[in-house]
Amino acid sequence: MPLFWDGAAVKSADTLIINSSQLLTLEASSTGAGPLGAVSHGAVAIKNGLILETGTTSKIMQNYSDCSDIIDADNFLVMPGFVDCHTHLVFAGERSKEMEQRLGGKSYLEILADRGGIHSTVRATRDSSHEELLGLGMKRLDRMAKNGTTTVEIKSGYGLNDKTEMKMLQVSAQLGREHSLDVVSTYLGAHTVPEDQSREEYLKWLSGSSLQSFRELAEYFDIFCEEGAFSLDETKMLLEFAKNAGFKLKVHGGQFNDLGSPGVAALLGAVSVDHLENISNTDLDLMAEAGTVAVLLPGVPFFLQSDKYPDAGRFLEKGISVALATDFNPGSCPSYSMQMMITLGVFYCGMSIGDAVSAGTINAAMAINRENEIGSLKVGKKADIIILDITGPEEIPYYFGTNLVKKTIKNGKII
Ligand code: NIG
Ligand code: FE
Repeated sequence: MPLFWDGAAVKSADTLIINSSQLLTLEASSTGAGPLGAVSHGAVAIKNGLILETGTTSKIMQNYSDCSDIIDADNFLVMPGFVDCHTHLVFAGERSKEMEQRLGGKSYLEILADRGGIHSTVRATRDSSHEELLGLGMKRLDRMAKNGTTTVEIKSGYGLNDKTEMKMLQVSAQLGREHSLDVVSTYLGAHTVPEDQSREEYLKWLSGSSLQSFRELAEYFDIFCEEGAFSLDETKMLLEFAKNAGFKLKVHGGQFNDLGSPGVAALLGAVSVDHLENISNTDLDLMAEAGTVAVLLPGVPFFLQSDKYPDAGRFLEKGISVALATDFNPGSCPSYSMQMMITLGVFYCGMSIGDAVSAGTINAAMAINRENEIGSLKVGKKADIIILDITGPEEIPYYFGTNLVKKTIKNGKII
């Protein structure tokens, strides 16, 4: 208690972020907030790595006048860190030669059928040690952090056998422990059938006791339901096994062909279906009813030079939550940038700026069941915050192709 009590309560915070052009809280309920929960000249008070209070800079400065650790946003935009809710970040090798083949007219599915594509990354990943994959993963997470991402979902799926799927998930777990970004792990043994096993043998292994051991390292089970990967019946069967083993479910669905997986996934309570360029109205209704999140990955049609992008409007008009992610992987989207995904969402998926910003933050958090911890600047959530070199969110697509992030703050600390 100060010697002379002046009546005004001075609260204690560890850090303040002040002087934003706008603070996008993504919380519509914030006092006086505009669209995206925008507070003009907003500020944030942080304690123990969590959001303590948001408000105008003058109010926060008054409430926390004792706080000496101040990050001045210099009249730039402040918002929640991006949540990249769909990546294949752990792998070895690269596939730029395939990009050149595609530029010559060969399709992604043709390359896969010729034992390239996913198979070529499987070969490289099987040949790499845990340490090599860890080093690559650390470097990639650093790049994502520089681009404003603060939480990353990482899938396995380039092992397609016990040893290498396990190695990938152990690398992801270690990345989560040792890197400042948070990692959420997904088991994607059902990425495709490996070259060295019959379909029957592989399905037996996928649905057998291995599921339990992968469950110890991964929260989600994912499957690629597509021609050249798994059929709808196989998808349904494997999702049922995975659900019984205690996994939450995700599906790569409708990327090139509409095989009907979004509906099956929704009926089984999947958290999200991802890609979704091709989906029937019946499946849209099933997703809406079940509250399944639609994760759109517009970097994929962009990189594969497809003119078919997912249509966000079809999901939004049914009340389905729409998220965006990079799908970072060596074959169909080697991009670290959620800013780029927001740009593509706006230009090619029919999203408004607000839809796209929500899709890369709070809705992406929903797609990994983390909406109570991250994705918006709500009191009690993690202080995962970015400062961008712009004054409003519309400048993200406007200045496309440039990394606009000046500072990434994770758990209240600049990284
Ligand atoms: O989400 N579609 C399947 N899997 C990844 C691509 C994997 C790869 O080509 O290596 C995707 O696009
Ligand atoms: Fe993917």
